Amino acid sequence: MRFLRTTGKICSALLLVFSMHINSHAQEIDIVPKPAELKMQKGNFEITGNTALVYDRSNKDLARIAGFLSGHMEQYYKMNLASSQGNGGVIRFEITSLPGLDKEGYTMKIDKNGILISAPAANGIFYGFQTLKQMLPSDPAGKMIIPYAEIKDQPRFAWRGMMLDVCRHFFPVSYIKKFLDNMAMYKLNTFHWHLTDDQGWRIEIKKYPGLADISSWRDETLIGHGHKSQLYDGIGYGGFYTQDQIREIVQYAADRFITVVPEIEMPGHSSAALAAYPELGCTGGPYQVQKSWGVFKDVYCAGKEETFRFLQDVIDEVCELFPSEYIHIGGDECPKDAWKECPLCQKRIKDEGLKDEQELQSYFVRRMEKYLNSKGRKLIGWDEILEGGIAPEATVMSWRGEQGGIEAAKQGHDVIMTPGEFCYFDHYQNQNTFSEPLAIGGYLPLEKVYNYDPVGKIDKEKAHHVLGVQANVWTEYIANTQKLEYMIFPRICALSEIAWSPAGTKDFGDFQKRMATEYPRFKMYGINYCDHSF
Ligand code: ACM
Ligand code: ZN
Repeated sequence: MRFLRTTGKICSALLLVFSMHINSHAQEIDIVPKPAELKMQKGNFEITGNTALVYDRSNKDLARIAGFLSGHMEQYYKMNLASSQGNGGVIRFEITSLPGLDKEGYTMKIDKNGILISAPAANGIFYGFQTLKQMLPSDPAGKMIIPYAEIKDQPRFAWRGMMLDVCRHFFPVSYIKKFLDNMAMYKLNTFHWHLTDDQGWRIEIKKYPGLADISSWRDETLIGHGHKSQLYDGIGYGGFYTQDQIREIVQYAADRFITVVPEIEMPGHSSAALAAYPELGCTGGPYQVQKSWGVFKDVYCAGKEETFRFLQDVIDEVCELFPSEYIHIGGDECPKDAWKECPLCQKRIKDEGLKDEQELQSYFVRRMEKYLNSKGRKLIGWDEILEGGIAPEATVMSWRGEQGGIEAAKQGHDVIMTPGEFCYFDHYQNQNTFSEPLAIGGYLPLEKVYNYDPVGKIDKEKAHHVLGVQANVWTEYIANTQKLEYMIFPRICALSEIAWSPAGTKDFGDFQKRMATEYPRFKMYGINYCDHSF
């Protein structure tokens, strides 16, 4: 008993210390991703209904960001900022040149006058606004007291990406917008949109209506895990984005300083397209929109001119819709079985003086690169595009580990690091997989994402070729948005820190401390999340 009573006292004392710690650190500012420089100062500024939002109203970008801020204050805190300068201080946005900061950088000063966010461009003001959101209470009823501070911040990498697979499962426009908002919240700026795959083609192409009519629908879907199950649900599944919807998303993203990079898979992962246009395959089909997961032997015929005509036509419409510098052509997991048996593919190999089917894939990708370059765009592809010789200007997305990225950088190519081991958010977040919702496999806890360094294994003199880092969300086992968010949160926070915060500043304990105020924010924003690390 005595032991228990003593233990009880110790527990209450610990609880007191713990709650004091929480209270004291409410006075600090917990920002994710960690800003490059943050200096706390003495004093507090309180935002009230008398605080005015001040900016150059002729600047459309600033007006939009101001609208985001007012909307945020109204939606979550039921607070209307003053329309004119009153006695409650100001939140001011100011575009001005700031030595040492690029267009995504910003400074922020909180003092007795209020909050001043300055940046050389609107991008930086937008990121300052994201930082400001994290200074507001994570409780809608909380007081808007912000400690005096000075921040100078800018990203480590130019490419801070998230990929979403909308082929294995389809997500509506309304959710894509929430996904983009969630990216923006963590200062991510590149949305890689995986739009075509074996199990569905999700982008309307006017010249080929069969892609929407046939390729976007599968008859049914595998139930359970592909390693174990051969059961199907018997329910038709599909969907696609119209070109108007695509334009709407691209604009929505641009308004949040996010570039959308579309991916059109070739030469593999093309079953869905071939289901509608079987003449583009080596055997002429019939082909089906796949109902299960994995890698399929149905690929575009590299010997037929009409394959290239089709893909170039598709690229024409894609380039009309997406202003991005980069177009992703996939290139991963292309079995060569059909090409080996196909007289036209074999003739192509002979005519072009290629050594084998690997070089035929290289021929395929080079040809598409030439076409993209002629339209002023750059090709990006998964690391398989290194096999058989990489296209001259191609950028490589390293997914099968880091080796592809290391090799590409060595050869003088730009790379995006997205190795499966550290960046695949479709992997489990708990080693005890029985307690988790079904996932593809793997184990990727928050700390492992956090500790990944995109340039860690790249030669120093080649490190400038690493444009950035990206996480990928493949959706074989993610059929709804609740589960999608569970897989993304909180790992997106660790990704943001890898992508944004300066090299050499990592401290998982400090990150966890800052994350303590993020979890209640997820709740406030209606975001589902995994709480194993909390
Ligand atoms: C990939 O995960 N197949 C790029
Ligand atoms: Zn062929």
